[in-house]
Amino acid sequence: MKRIWILLTLTILTTPLSAWLIEPTDETKEMVAPYLIPEDHPVKPILDEIFSVRASETLTSLRKAGFMNLQPRKRGLIVTEHPSLPGYIIKVYCDYSGHSYNQFTKSYQMQDEHLEFVGRLEKRNLIESIIDHYGFEEFILPKKWIYPIPTEVNPLHNHTRIKKFYLIVAEKLDILDPFETREIWKQVDQDYIHKFFLVYRDARLQDVGSANQCFTPSGHLAFIDTKDWSEETFKPLKSPYFLPYEHKMYWNQLIKSTFPE
Ligand SMILES: Nc1ncnc2c1ncn2[C@@H]1O[C@H](COP(=O)(O)OP(=O)(O)OP(=O)(O)O)[C@@H](O)[C@H]1O
Ligand SMILES: [Mg+2]
Repeated sequence: MKRIWILLTLTILTTPLSAWLIEPTDETKEMVAPYLIPEDHPVKPILDEIFSVRASETLTSLRKAGFMNLQPRKRGLIVTEHPSLPGYIIKVYCDYSGHSYNQFTKSYQMQDEHLEFVGRLEKRNLIESIIDHYGFEEFILPKKWIYPIPTEVNPLHNHTRIKKFYLIVAEKLDILDPFETREIWKQVDQDYIHKFFLVYRDARLQDVGSANQCFTPSGHLAFIDTKDWSEETFKPLKSPYFLPYEHKMYWNQLIKSTFPE
């Protein structure tokens, strides 16, 4: 076991610095192009100002640059806010966070955050098109864009800092917390559950829960987390924990008739 660690460390230490890109590839640029924040969007110059230094190098540099609530999530994603960007949320990986699992290629890779972020934007747009298709007015989504972190500023180059090229900037929605959201689920009728089910079914949602689809004080259900999971991990959701008993039973009927075993 010890040998494996020594070998791994040696491999990392002997990897040439040039192994890490300093610019995204043309293929990556093409992939993110449809989702980039427009040049004339009001937050663009503010982000440019913040990222005139390598703000996302580490948690410390994010903090120094003014970002708040810097608690990395399970997979290393940092969901944060900045006082100069009221009304917006930033989702970013630090430069040290180079080995996140890539759902698309099923491997641990560097500089692949664009795949996850494009996935989140595509999923967001898919959910929006489904909501529009049915004309559901009870559901909302935050707008999201990809911001290209200026590439002129490099992280301190060493083998633990792998430069990230992109982050997500999203409209911050006023959402209720998971406990409050569960209280609202007790107040909706069966028709509401059916509508939610149709969005779930058509968008093949995964990681469904009261921290990812949250009610707002205005009574809308906001689809906050639009992470695009691999199709292969989709499993029909039984007895959603956040629904009250009678809605769970109705949901299970819908699941049974839609996804027969
Ligand atoms: N646009 C938004 N408006 C308001 N709150 C948000 C927004 N985006 C994220 N949040 C808050 O941040 C939390 C985490 O965001 P999100 O669910 O997108 O990350 P995540 O993909 O779940 O990360 P992980 O799955 O790695 O834990 C959400 O549950 C929500 O409370
Ligand atoms: Mg989430």
